[in-house]
Amino acid sequence: MNKINKEALKSPERFIDASGITESELDLAINDVIKKVKHNIVKLGETFPESSTINDTYRTSKNIEWTPGFWTGILWLCYENTHEEIFRSLAEKNVESFYQRIKNQVDVNHHDLGFLYIPSCVAAYKLTGNKLAKDAALLAADKLMERYNPKGKFIQAWGNVGDSNNYRLIVDAMLNIPLLYWAYQETGTEKYLNVVKNHYETTLKYAIREDGSAYHTFFFDPQSGKPIGGRTRQGYSDDSSWARGQSWLIYGIALNYSHLHNDVDLDTFESVTNYFLNRLPEDFVSYWDLIFKDGDYQSKDSSATAIAICGMNQMQKYLDKNNNIYPIYEKAQGVMLHNLINSYTEEKTQGITALLNHGVYSWHSGHGIDEGNLWGDYFYLEALTRFKQNGNWEMYW
Ligand code: GLY
Repeated sequence: MNKINKEALKSPERFIDASGITESELDLAINDVIKKVKHNIVKLGETFPESSTINDTYRTSKNIEWTPGFWTGILWLCYENTHEEIFRSLAEKNVESFYQRIKNQVDVNHHDLGFLYIPSCVAAYKLTGNKLAKDAALLAADKLMERYNPKGKFIQAWGNVGDSNNYRLIVDAMLNIPLLYWAYQETGTEKYLNVVKNHYETTLKYAIREDGSAYHTFFFDPQSGKPIGGRTRQGYSDDSSWARGQSWLIYGIALNYSHLHNDVDLDTFESVTNYFLNRLPEDFVSYWDLIFKDGDYQSKDSSATAIAICGMNQMQKYLDKNNNIYPIYEKAQGVMLHNLINSYTEEKTQGITALLNHGVYSWHSGHGIDEGNLWGDYFYLEALTRFKQNGNWEMYW
């Protein structure tokens, strides 16, 4: 493992002095989301939104790619917040679609099975005991297991398993692997636990640099399984830190800690979190890569900040209350959420609208730049729900 030198939080007073979120602001923000989701339901029917907006409006799509689970997850979060049947009945229809998708193996040759099946089907099962949802999520967990490479001890993200051009892990998978903890809990089958632990350890060992920043992806030698090196796909460069990758790590470590309670990971969590917080610009919402600062004329990725809030919120319950960073991390979450609510949620279209504006999907492919996206919407609503439930939210992950 790289020895990680923990970077101290550079300006804790920035967070302490800034405005945090208030109760009334939180309630208004949740009401605003509910109103927008109801509007979107009318426009979407049983179709799904595309992964990101074009000119601030989602187009409709089928249950394909890696993102439709976030739409169903949004419906479940709306249901939790309101108990209104409209959200539950559509989410349950979506579950049938997810069952058909995994049964018929439609666009599932990749690792994004946690993103697809946790907020949709694991959530359905946890909230309502939906049996079809459980079956679908277990099939998805088995599909994810097929991507495990015992030589390198990691789950291969993309391409056919073993393909030398794709023999790598990516940090995004930190949010896919909790599907295996859930499968282990449901079935008692050890193989799920062994694979998720191995993948997690390999990620911590190789995907974090000495300064606490993240590589987006990390290659291994297909013959020997030995480490080769870090490369980016969605970040600015191989040696910069893609903001969303950093926040996948923040949330990923928090989730894995929730399952494994491995105390050495607390320091690693602080390292990756401080690296992220130390690079937040004036409005506390990161640019799409942490290399950028105010004045660089780059786009923000609001989704990275929403994910980081959720991860920090999840870890907060395990942090030592006597640790100096405890109150600062707590305040930082509220400050970031306050800024997202106030500057990133303007309704920009009469069409299918994003809940959170100004994200970046993929800079290099020119996809979803300065647009809304489904995962930003989902994690924004998850963050609001976590705050509404005072940190006691029963997570889907
Ligand atoms: N997991 C893909 C992304 O974060 O864009």
